[in-house]
Amino acid sequence: MNKKAGILYGIGVGPGDPDLITIKAAKILNQVDIVFAAASTKNNHSLAVNIASEHIPDSTTVKTLRFPMTSDKNETRRAWKEHAHTIIGELEQGRNVAFLTLGDSMTYSTYGYILKHVQTLAPHLEAQTVPGITSYQAAAARLNTPLVEGEESLMVVSGVKGGNRLRELNGKPENVVFLKAYRNVPDIKAAIDESGKYPNCVGVKSCGQSSEEIIKDIEELSQRKPDYWTLIISKQSTNNGTQEG
Ligand SMILES: C[S@@+](CC[C@H](N)C(=O)[O-])C[C@H]1O[C@@H](n2cnc3c(N)ncnc32)[C@H](O)[C@@H]1O
Repeated sequence: MNKKAGILYGIGVGPGDPDLITIKAAKILNQVDIVFAAASTKNNHSLAVNIASEHIPDSTTVKTLRFPMTSDKNETRRAWKEHAHTIIGELEQGRNVAFLTLGDSMTYSTYGYILKHVQTLAPHLEAQTVPGITSYQAAAARLNTPLVEGEESLMVVSGVKGGNRLRELNGKPENVVFLKAYRNVPDIKAAIDESGKYPNCVGVKSCGQSSEEIIKDIEELSQRKPDYWTLIISKQSTNNGTQEG
């Protein structure tokens, strides 16, 4: 008789504070046979594993899957496919697998691509995705600042193209979160300034981690050495939550 296949769990571990992992994620991490997490080909480090480590039993196998930090789409696709095959191999051996992702599992996450490949290559396998607290939810909480109120809207945008995503929009949303700002903070700042609409901008670095910093002056942030684990929350309103929205 064929072995029953394992289940793939996509686990969002939250932005940094291990206490911000959901109870559901912690229960699953306690039970799976193997934990995978993404790491760069340059080093074997996984922040997601560090964050989740207190919820992973010592006896559980933890493996990093190396992804190239490149803009070469073919190379990236090759890595997704290869790693999807590795995960499928484990699932078909009957092992339950967790794939860790920082923040939320469905927000700018490698897991999203891995999941698509697993579902395409092995549609018979089961996947369950466990959401995590996103970096920007944690940052808004840290700042005691509402993300959206009343009839407002929120745009979550990648900063990989600098400020252009904001420039392209005619009607500007009341609130914008820039993730993956990294080297493009100066251009994002320029786009924010050009719009003349966002008097309330804050940068948050390594939210929930020991190296956390809150940078209230975006000009200062734009002059700093680029840091990957930084986001910007920009608000049209200067309401800090003390007025009714
Ligand atoms: C590939 S995206 C991952 C987003 C993540 N899945 C989430 O739910 O927040 C990586 C970007 O998220 C932001 N980020 C993730 N964790 C962060 C943290 N702890 N503090 C500040 N920004 C963070 C940074 O802008 C970083 O460049």
